[in-house]
Amino acid sequence: MIRYLTAGESHGEALVGIVEGMPAGVPVTPANLDEHLSRRWLGYGRGGRAKVERDQVKVLGGIRFSHTMGSPIALLLPNAAYEKDRTGWPEKMAVTGDGEGIERITLPRPGHADLVGAQKYGFDRPPHGPDVRPVIDRSSARETAMRVACCSVARQMLRALGIEVGSHVVRLGEVGLDDPADWAEDRDALLAEGGARALYEKADQSEVRMLSDELSERTIEHIKATKKAGDTLGGVYEVVATGVPVGLGSYAQGDRRLDGRLAQAILSIQAQKAVEVGDGWRAGRRPGSEVHDPITRDDTDGVARWGRESNHAGGVEGGISNGQPLVVRGTMKPIPTLIKPLGTADLVTGAAQPTRYERSDVTSVPAASTVAEATVAWEIAVALLERYGGDTFEAVRERIEADRERGL
Ligand SMILES: Cc1cc2nc3c(=O)[nH]c(=O)nc-3n(C[C@H](O)[C@H](O)[C@H](O)COP(=O)(O)O)c2cc1C
Repeated sequence: MIRYLTAGESHGEALVGIVEGMPAGVPVTPANLDEHLSRRWLGYGRGGRAKVERDQVKVLGGIRFSHTMGSPIALLLPNAAYEKDRTGWPEKMAVTGDGEGIERITLPRPGHADLVGAQKYGFDRPPHGPDVRPVIDRSSARETAMRVACCSVARQMLRALGIEVGSHVVRLGEVGLDDPADWAEDRDALLAEGGARALYEKADQSEVRMLSDELSERTIEHIKATKKAGDTLGGVYEVVATGVPVGLGSYAQGDRRLDGRLAQAILSIQAQKAVEVGDGWRAGRRPGSEVHDPITRDDTDGVARWGRESNHAGGVEGGISNGQPLVVRGTMKPIPTLIKPLGTADLVTGAAQPTRYERSDVTSVPAASTVAEATVAWEIAVALLERYGGDTFEAVRERIEADRERGL
């Protein structure tokens, strides 16, 4: 079993992560982790923090001579804003003391964890409140930086086994495409050329991580107009994994289903509201003859290679990977911090008040798509190690290769 934990607050000194259970011998360097962390900053319409902060992970344990050691991997990501933006974060987030004289935040923001978090953990009342700062700081998507770092360790293992995970954005607010048939040709050409890595490298060239230049341009105009109107945008992205062997996940118990786990991987990310696997919600509108993928078999090289004529299932049947590319889409809601105020009420006085604007992005869908790549990669690694796991990477690789020789 592999697992990871993150700790730390958005404006605290640092984020901390521990990755546990990875086999020994997986090739990983800090630069491999930074590669995906820097991709998380991508995206037109990102403001504020994205401009001041660039992440570089520090490995404190578990990796030696560029390979995992089988021991827990300890990661550290300092928050550059903590010291740099000189607005008193060391005092506001002090580990000791009683916070005397520190400004309390008493206006919970709609669409955030602020109010429910304060009600749940007692920050809506004395002795620790009213002050929603502790909720804001841990529920913030800043945490996804450490998640990306942790998941990137698993991603390195997948890469060394020929498994890649990539993503692209298909819709931002009112601009975009809805039917996978409309982008399948562009996407599949990239997958054929260089797997899901070619897909994400192409998407990274667009400021909104879209495959079509024309759509990218229209989307950027849409973001500009939305910003002017003081509003924010959500959107839809697609995550694809290639090189995934047959047989990850299981129908034998609900919590082993790969599709269920991929859905959790997406919905575990802040502000993600829907997941589709393969045809997704469109499968409910079409007759079976247009949804199910006819089975094919090829014996030309003496090995029975089973395939599918199409991939409406998104690479999973019966909760098990079928060797086709895994395809899942996530929908992110618009960012809840708007220039245009929304209604709320003060925790102290109870008086109705408009929200106060804080520096925030217009949209984070391109960034969220890279976080979703990371969490999807993690779930694939979990299922892969359940099937092929061993104490050493070599043992895992040998087992997978033996299956591949059998056509799986
Ligand atoms: C990559 C990413 C970036 C985000 N950036 C912001 C932001 O700049 N401002 C903001 O108010 N919310 C931002 N959010 C959303 C918040 O994290 C917030 O937790 C979320 O909307 C709370 O709603 P939930 O119940 O859906 O998680 C971001 C989310 C993600 C995944």
